[in-house]
Amino acid sequence: MTGARIDADVPVPAHVAIIMDGNGRWAAARGLERKEGHRAGASNIIKICRACQERGIATLSLFAFSTENWSRPKTEIDALFEIASDYFSGQFTDFPGMGIRLNVIGSRKDLPVALRAMIAKAEKANPRAYSLTLNMAVNYGGKWDIMQSARKLAEKCIAGGMMPSDIDEAALEEGLSTSGQPPVDLLIRTSGEQRISNFLIWQCAYSELYFTAKHWPDFDETELDAALSEYARRTRKFGGLA
Ligand code: IPE
Ligand code: IPE
Ligand code: MG
Repeated sequence: MTGARIDADVPVPAHVAIIMDGNGRWAAARGLERKEGHRAGASNIIKICRACQERGIATLSLFAFSTENWSRPKTEIDALFEIASDYFSGQFTDFPGMGIRLNVIGSRKDLPVALRAMIAKAEKANPRAYSLTLNMAVNYGGKWDIMQSARKLAEKCIAGGMMPSDIDEAALEEGLSTSGQPPVDLLIRTSGEQRISNFLIWQCAYSELYFTAKHWPDFDETELDAALSEYARRTRKFGGLA
């Protein structure tokens, strides 16, 4: 447990989600191509995973590619998928040994076949014992997630296994890509923008929001601790009285 700076009596979020924004601006500020920013961003992931483990955070969700990111130039999308492939076949191979369980969330059908195969291989290597579940959001959208859960319920109803009146929040939640996990306690977005950009919209219904001007490749343990300290100072009311 090196580097942890959170006291035992301070509330630690069970589930942290991060919108890893600002790779392009990080690169531009250094006169580099945008893809170099994405590479630097990808190599920052392992450090933040380890920092979360050290701080007792059980679930981490990272936004890597949104359903809206298809509107970027093809050259950038190709570079992003190339970096993702290098990532899953390279650095990621250390993750099972670190006690990290991978759960890739998002629609896979439009991803390049080779990347899909690498994701499947990485998930197969998941360890039996782990201290961190990592939801990696690739071609993910919060609206897509709710839609695909709703579709599964509709299919169940048509098959006769369920009545529409049986559909409740728990049933819809069970079909989400984060099924069985706690909701997001703390949503962090780097690089100054203050919006959710269609990330885990259902799961973030009651999250605390934290925004930092730091670009994702510069987001480090000190930044994470600043977010966790701010979280610990917040009063969560869930509609009740403090
Ligand atoms: C986040 O960085 C990574 C992805 C969305 C894939 P950006 O590429 O959005 O970086 P900026 O916002 O242009 O700086
Ligand atoms: C959100 O960042 C998506 C990811 C970090 C993967 P964007 O840069 O795509 O979001 P907008 O366009 O600023 O809303
Ligand atoms: Mg951006």
